[in-house]
Amino acid sequence: MSARDESTDKIIETVENGLLALRVRNRFGSLLVYRQGAQVVDYTPAGGAPVLFVSRASRLERKKAIRGGVPICFPWFGPHEERKELPAHGFARTSEFEYLGGATSASGEVSLRFGLKAGPATRESFPYDFEAHYEVRLGENLTLVFTVRNTGNVPFTFEAALHTYFAVSDVRQVEVTGLTGESYLDQLSGRVEQEAERAVRISREVDRIYTSRATCHLVDPGLDREIVVSKQGSASTVVWNPWIEKSQRLADLGDDEYLRMLCIESANVRPETIELFPSEAHALQVSIASERLDAERRAG
Ligand code: BG6
Repeated sequence: MSARDESTDKIIETVENGLLALRVRNRFGSLLVYRQGAQVVDYTPAGGAPVLFVSRASRLERKKAIRGGVPICFPWFGPHEERKELPAHGFARTSEFEYLGGATSASGEVSLRFGLKAGPATRESFPYDFEAHYEVRLGENLTLVFTVRNTGNVPFTFEAALHTYFAVSDVRQVEVTGLTGESYLDQLSGRVEQEAERAVRISREVDRIYTSRATCHLVDPGLDREIVVSKQGSASTVVWNPWIEKSQRLADLGDDEYLRMLCIESANVRPETIELFPSEAHALQVSIASERLDAERRAG
């Protein structure tokens, strides 16, 4: 499409499943973002299929993590290092973000801005002054920018991940390229390994934290598409699929839904934890593009 069609540019504040949300539609596609966790739960490029997976078993309730879309993990990833009673992946994904407004650029790209600040609730588990800012842009690609600023007087460290659940035709049939040669922490064995394969394929539970800034390609012949995940300010890539037994243990994931999802998370976690001095800020940016497969790759 060339000329901008203003009539389709829309940002609608709405309530979906009892949660405050923003719906966007423009010539590039559509988006749904919950204010809780500023969680993008739908990104559908114009004329294409939904790029993100959301579990049919997900609890869409206030203060409950949503299983799918792009949860923001912050300020820690996985279980809290010292206090195991704290929620996994930090408080951002269950916090209500402020909606700071939306805008449309001259090219027709729509951006939504969200904010989360330190307050009494966040200080209970993360005793620092910070401001987090999240920009969600619907243009040729989906662009997500998560920025954390230290607004206090002392340095702090944090982890962050844009924990993206991609929808796939059948996880056993897809491959992820771009990680060859990168080292990773296998969260299942606790060992550090080096990726020897040309492509990561999923035939069992996979839970790996790669040290990598590389662009990943999720090639899905069944959906005739390739998702390209490129990033800036992110030194970790987490690849996660729960496979059969873990899916059965997760109440908010259908037993067979592990086949329909694959998480490729753009992150800064573990050895790539970020340290911020007073007034410093760090931005983690990911761009997600959905492309048709060319004939060669379609044939495998
Ligand atoms: C992944 C972690 O990022 O998130 C896994 O690497 C974890 O270890 C998964 O199981 C899901 O976490 P949660 O808290 O949403 O069930």
